[in-house]
Amino acid sequence: MDAAIGCPRPINSPVAIEDVAGTVKDLIDAGKVKYFGLSEAGPRTIRRAHAVQPVSVLQTEYSLFERDVERLFPTLQELGVGFVAYSPLGRGFITGTAKPAGQYDATDMRNTDPRWQPGNFEKNIEAVGRLGKPAAAKGITASRLALAWLLAQGEHIVPIPGTRSAARVRENAHAADVALTDADLAAIHEILPTGGFGARYAEGHVPDWV
Ligand SMILES: NC(=O)c1ccc[n+]([C@@H]2O[C@H](COP(=O)([O-])OP(=O)(O)OC[C@H]3O[C@@H](n4cnc5c(N)ncnc54)[C@H](OP(=O)(O)O)[C@@H]3O)[C@@H](O)[C@H]2O)c1
Repeated sequence: MDAAIGCPRPINSPVAIEDVAGTVKDLIDAGKVKYFGLSEAGPRTIRRAHAVQPVSVLQTEYSLFERDVERLFPTLQELGVGFVAYSPLGRGFITGTAKPAGQYDATDMRNTDPRWQPGNFEKNIEAVGRLGKPAAAKGITASRLALAWLLAQGEHIVPIPGTRSAARVRENAHAADVALTDADLAAIHEILPTGGFGARYAEGHVPDWV
């Protein structure tokens, strides 16, 4: 549900989005800020903000494991808002490096992420393993295939994979060189038609707009 539906301001926020957008507009007018972006906002919040100061981009989680945000794409297209896909590798799951919950540092949220919990974890491991086949057929890794899939979803989509390794930055950047055919996309769709197994957040932590 959009946080702003039926509310003068987003739930849990004492500041109306119009006030936020107005403040950013003042900063843009003063030459101190170039663009206005939102993260994890719903359609109504985006429209309200956009009416005050055009929104350049929305950043929200999007990957082969997380497809909820696709429902916002018509709104983004209508308003001309770009899209930054965060956690495009499913927080690292779609790389073949996922470990079971409990094997990460104590502060790592993947320990409590539903997709890492027993039951979901094994199914997600299997799905990522199956992605290895269309990836290998193109001579690329599953990570690069997952990023290429995102790029193939629309011109307005820019994935921002996170990594602490320069070699992986290069590996991931080469996803832009991968052209997926209809057959590639169909093979990927067969493996992960609607997303990964398990919700993206534990109960009680779901963003308001969902
Ligand atoms: N707006 C928001 O609310 C929000 C929320 C979450 C994240 N973000 C942003 O989104 C970006 C990325 O998200 P994320 O880091 O959560 O998830 P991600 O990009 O889906 O996955 C990152 C994980 O994948 C691993 N990885 C990356 N490339 C790899 C490769 N080629 N092969 C194997 N493993 C690879 C990384 O490990 P290594 O480091 O060991 O390579 C890291 O553990 C960050 O810039 C983050 O700040 C924004």
